[in-house]
Amino acid sequence: MSRPTDSIHGQWSSRWTFILAATGSAVGLGNIWKFPYIAGENGGGAFVLVYLLCIVAIGLPLMMAEVMIGRRGRQNPVNTLRSLAKEENKSASWGLVGWIGIVAGFIILSYYSVIAGQAIAYVFRSFAGVFEGVTADGAHQIYLSLTHDPERLLAWHTVFMVLTMVVVARGVKSGIERFVKYIMPALFAILLMLVGYAANTGDYFNQGLHFLFTPNFSKLTANGVLTAMGHAFFTLSLGMGAIMVYGSYLSKTTSIVKVSIWIAITDTVVALLAGMAIFPLAFANELTAGVGPGLIFETLPIAFGHMAGGALFGGLFFLLLVFAAWSSAISIVEPVIAWLVENKNISRRRASVTAGFGIWLLGLLTVFSFNIGENWILFGKTMFELLDYITANILLPLGGLLTAIFAGWVISKNNAKDEFAMKTPFFYPIWRVLIRFITPLAVIIVFLNVIGLLG
Ligand code: TRP
Repeated sequence: MSRPTDSIHGQWSSRWTFILAATGSAVGLGNIWKFPYIAGENGGGAFVLVYLLCIVAIGLPLMMAEVMIGRRGRQNPVNTLRSLAKEENKSASWGLVGWIGIVAGFIILSYYSVIAGQAIAYVFRSFAGVFEGVTADGAHQIYLSLTHDPERLLAWHTVFMVLTMVVVARGVKSGIERFVKYIMPALFAILLMLVGYAANTGDYFNQGLHFLFTPNFSKLTANGVLTAMGHAFFTLSLGMGAIMVYGSYLSKTTSIVKVSIWIAITDTVVALLAGMAIFPLAFANELTAGVGPGLIFETLPIAFGHMAGGALFGGLFFLLLVFAAWSSAISIVEPVIAWLVENKNISRRRASVTAGFGIWLLGLLTVFSFNIGENWILFGKTMFELLDYITANILLPLGGLLTAIFAGWVISKNNAKDEFAMKTPFFYPIWRVLIRFITPLAVIIVFLNVIGLLG
């Protein structure tokens, strides 16, 4: 199999659109919904510190590796890894790593869509003024009235899947590029406003900051460390080929280092701002930090319910969150779609319908895990928790580990350098040490730690 010089799916019109699309992929429910609730469940500060370390030591080098591999291979992750391996006279079974990604993407989107559906429901509730003057208990009841109703959850999940597949069917350029550039700045603005609101809760704001930024390692378990690492993959969209596929649509002349750093910084700042907005509110309303996936849905309405113009800002906030989730969802299925189009020879439209239906169906497990299937427990977890654990904590780190090994050990030094360095020869040797040693070792140590082999 030879290596095409361009992707058959098109190319980003500029470096900027790549940055926007990749940022659109990275910034999503992971930052605003997931990061705060898992930080809350895992005791705050120490968890956040490990997460930040993982972004720098694992996430950044790996993002550069994925962009580099994708741009060099110019195909879906399975074919890209296979053909690059062959080029280096290594085994074509490296393509299996691409398969891990395709499976992970399929599962992730199935639950991601259900949560995004909850956010859509909240757009309407907020604009309708449902949160006006709401108490903590009221917000809790409103959340339960949504999640305990399988029909509603299913309806919104369906709406979100249709939205996603419509954009995906239109293709990377006309579909994805167009709308990312408006969402990010607007989302940022409302988040800042919420942090400003939280800053007015007086001492609760300090409590929130203390919770997020003062590490207390006695609260951190081995599984908490794994969750922090898994989240570094999840939030940067790494470990399953999404950034790799986006990289395959990138022009040869773009500096990989700079764009990756930008994406990681933006993503991290958004997550930290979300935490700074949410924890003071949780504490001011006597909610425990560890309430779980409902955290944003139970705290933010209280803020919107008490501020001037809250119905409007709340509606806008959830709308922007839906957009952020939308631009992420698109990237989660793109590897699946690229694979179907290239290897099964079907149109993007048919690929979108097929994949979309399968993912929608799997999403029922998550829909039911909030209501009629609350008690379907496997390994001590609900279906939603299990799907999340398997993907974020196992498949993404595993895919990322193998991708790092591929980038550092399979692709030859000169080929990687050729693809990579361009305007940044200074950084290249640092990256190479990180990707060959630090990134893989870090992932392996965290895995061993959970299995209990490190005591
Ligand atoms: N990063 C996105 C978020 O934080 C989710 C996401 C998009 C993702 N693409 C991905 C997660 C690929 C894992 C793998 O919401």
